[in-house]
Amino acid sequence: MSITVAIDGPAAAGKGTISKAVAAHFGFAHLDTGLLYRAVGAKTLAGFEAIAAAQSLQAEDLDASNLRSAEVAQAASKVAVIAEVRAALVDFQRAFAQRSGGAVLDGRDIGTVICPEAQVKLFVTASAEVRAERRYLELAAKDGDVTRADVLADVKARDARDMTRAEAPLKPAEDAVLIDTTDLDIAAAIAAAVRQVSSAI
Ligand code: DC
Repeated sequence: MSITVAIDGPAAAGKGTISKAVAAHFGFAHLDTGLLYRAVGAKTLAGFEAIAAAQSLQAEDLDASNLRSAEVAQAASKVAVIAEVRAALVDFQRAFAQRSGGAVLDGRDIGTVICPEAQVKLFVTASAEVRAERRYLELAAKDGDVTRADVLADVKARDARDMTRAEAPLKPAEDAVLIDTTDLDIAAAIAAAVRQVSSAI
């Protein structure tokens, strides 16, 4: 069986958690496509040129433990506006989506550009304030200096950049099912996603 589940949405809406849970529930492989852009963003912070970095990305560049900072997130959002960077990452994502046994890909343009033929398309969202609070709690656990106001400003800046770029802007596919997690706990959000996938299989 080759089933593709596309899960898109803005930063900190819960799509990563939902994607992992859906993949585990059905035994599908999972690709967090944000990591690809974060890896390219991290390379630019280290002095490399973005397009060359995207074209030469290696598996070892995707070590998630180095890529979770707010600084890398902003760098990822900046390199993600460059058409050649996006183009360099397409084939890898599409090949992943075609794996036998099923695949879940989460990102910004999976249902619209990378896998418009995906059998299940979800758009996971929440208010900017709720998303910023979640991200704040995550970051504050590691870094005592982080402030709520900074995190909210970062989330809004990233939303604006991701939604208004010319190439593959963040938006729901026309046939995507919306999951708004503003007032949903994570178990309810996962259950909603699992229901959508079950009914597609
Ligand atoms: O999902 P994330 O927060 O790890 O993504 C980091 C940035 O990468 C995000 O702000 C925009 C970019 N991105 C993208 O443009 N397309 C994707 N499919 C995934 C991420």
